[in-house]
This record gives sequence, C-alpha cells and structure tokens, in this order.
Amino acid sequence: MSPATTVLTVSDRGAEPQVRPGSRYHGDRAAAPEMLDFAVNIRNAQPPAWLLRRLTDRLPDLAGYPSGADHDAAIAAVAGRHGVPEDHVLLLAGGSEGFALLPALRPALAALIAPSFTEPEAVLAAAGIPLRQVVLPPPFRLGDAVIPDAADLVVVGNPTNPTGVLHPRGSVLGLRRPGRLVVVDEAFADAVPDEPESLAGAGLPDLLVLRSLTKTWSLAGLRVGYALGAPTVLARLAAARPHWPLGTLQLEAIIACCAPEAVAQARAGATVLSGLRSQLAAALSALGLPVVAGQAPFVTFVVPDGVLMRKHLRAYGIAVRRCDTFVGLTPNHLRVAVRADWPVLVAAIAEGLR
Ligand SMILES: Cc1ncc(COP(=O)(O)O)c(C=O)c1O
Repeated sequence: MSPATTVLTVSDRGAEPQVRPGSRYHGDRAAAPEMLDFAVNIRNAQPPAWLLRRLTDRLPDLAGYPSGADHDAAIAAVAGRHGVPEDHVLLLAGGSEGFALLPALRPALAALIAPSFTEPEAVLAAAGIPLRQVVLPPPFRLGDAVIPDAADLVVVGNPTNPTGVLHPRGSVLGLRRPGRLVVVDEAFADAVPDEPESLAGAGLPDLLVLRSLTKTWSLAGLRVGYALGAPTVLARLAAARPHWPLGTLQLEAIIACCAPEAVAQARAGATVLSGLRSQLAAALSALGLPVVAGQAPFVTFVVPDGVLMRKHLRAYGIAVRRCDTFVGLTPNHLRVAVRADWPVLVAAIAEGLR
C-alpha cells in the first residue's frame, strides 16, 4: 500500500485546548531589521507611493468613526473585483482575521490540509475545536488527501504556504461534501499570474475564500483582506465582531487595492515574480537541492542540514524561513521569498554547502 496521507489527531473535544507551540511561529520572527530578509513574503520594502499617498490623504479623517460610506465603497470594490454580489463579501483585518473567526461556525471536526499556514490550527486548537491534520506526502498533491468523512470544515491553502504548490481548482472543489464548508486560503493567489486556479468568484454556498492584501501591497502592518462566501456563512462569522471591525485607513486601502488599475499592477508584478521564481528554483536545483514544484512568491527546498544552513546564512546577514514548525516538513526544509536579489542568497547557500 502507498503511504498516501497521514492523518494525525491534534485535538479532540473535551480535552484541554492545546496549541502546538510551532503553530504560532511566523517568518517575521526570523529577520532582524538589518538583515537581508528572505523569510517574510511581503512583496516590497514599502507600499507603492500612490498607495501611501491615498492613505496619508485620509489621516485627517481619523478624527471620526469609520464611515458607512467607506465600508460600502470597500465592499463594492471587492465585489466588482471578483464579480460576486456585494452580500458575498466580508471585509477583514487581514486574511488572518478570517481564520480567527472560524470558531464562530462551531465545526464538529476541522480537517487541515498540511503542510500549510498554521494560524487555522492555532485558532481552532485554542478554541477547543476538534481537528485533524491531513498531511500530504511530497509532492504535496491534493489528490492524495484522505479527509475524514466527519470533517464539516476543511481548510486548504491555494497556492499553499509554505510548499508553493498550486492545486487545480477541480481538486479543491473535490473536497466538497454535503454539510461541509471548504475554506480556501488564497492569501497568495494574486501573486500567480492571472490566478488560474482561484475560486474567489465561484459564488458557491459551501465555499469560503479568504484573501489577503497585505503581501502584494506591502501592507502587513495595516491588516487588510476579505472573505468571499455565502451571506449566511459570512453573517455567522461576523456575528460577534466589534462594531467597527476595520478602521478608515484599512477601508481606504481595500478600495484602492481592488480598483482595476491596482489589480492590473498586481498582475504585472506577479508576472515578474513568476520569472524570478523560475530563475531562483533553477539555481537551487543546480546546486543539487531538491526544490518543491510550485507557483508562489516563495520557494521551498531541502538542504542536507537546515539548522547549520540557517546559522551559516545568519552569519551572512540573511534570514530564511525555517520549516520545522509546519506539520509535515522537516528541519531540512527551508522557505525563501522570491526577490530580485536572489543571486546573493544562492551564492551564500552555495558557500554553506561547501
Ligand atoms: C498562507 C497565508 N494565509 C494567510 C495569511 C494571513 O495574511 P494577512 O493576515 O497578513 O492578510 C498569511 C500570512 O503570512 C499566509 O502566509
């Protein structure tokens, strides 16, 4: 029999909620300010000048509460960008907030496709929701997933962080079952040219798509994103939120980043990144390092000794993302952001292999 999918029990109802320590580790912990940062997947060192101007122009408005008009304009911008009705949009303080709201759905059993972004695990475990990690073996294809029939919530990333694997839409849709909600984390979908596998506009009642604007627009400090799903699901997610969940600058950023010119700019950037990614992946392969095949603004690969390599790179002032905090990966997996200065990174890695 093939090893297929490992199903790992992480928590069960009735047990004291336990959060796996690695699930709250994120790449920003790896990079000190003076380092060359390949650990964090934010596209640029700062937001584009036009976006900064849009935001600074709104600073005087901070005297007032966030306005309904701004909220409605942000909803309309997202709906227009994805071709969905406005009642299918919920604005979020970053894609992460979408995960933080999931316990409100009170799932009986959550299945998390791993390796993956660990915030869903952290928030569901902290809320005492029973969950299973469905660990895909390399090359991390969704077709290998064996999901427990009882799972009424399934979370999958597309493209997946940290592997970079981009699942076909059909595989993601194949996770649907009566009585189940499939949550697709599309935080990096806008970094894939033309977003061929995105389900953001699908408008299916049992699909919830989470999107982030923080990576592409270098707005991680502002916290901006949104969810796309059925109005009934969005209402349950939002029921216990504070009255003004997003501030004026967040609303302005969403309006700005979902405008057609911004979407076109993001698409052009994605094409550039995709070319750089191919170069970086080829250079790592040429060093004899196994590279996970994917399409994302980051690359995951395997080195003979990940702990030693990270130490070596740190001595060069280079930060990379450790991967042993992700369920299903090892200390020898490393993830690096795709950047134009990748040759510096590859040269340092080559040095570390000698
Ligand atoms: C795969 C994935 N999903 C979602 C998020 C959350 O993004 P944010 O809350 O910054 O929008 C991140 C952040 O690192 C991520 O890597």
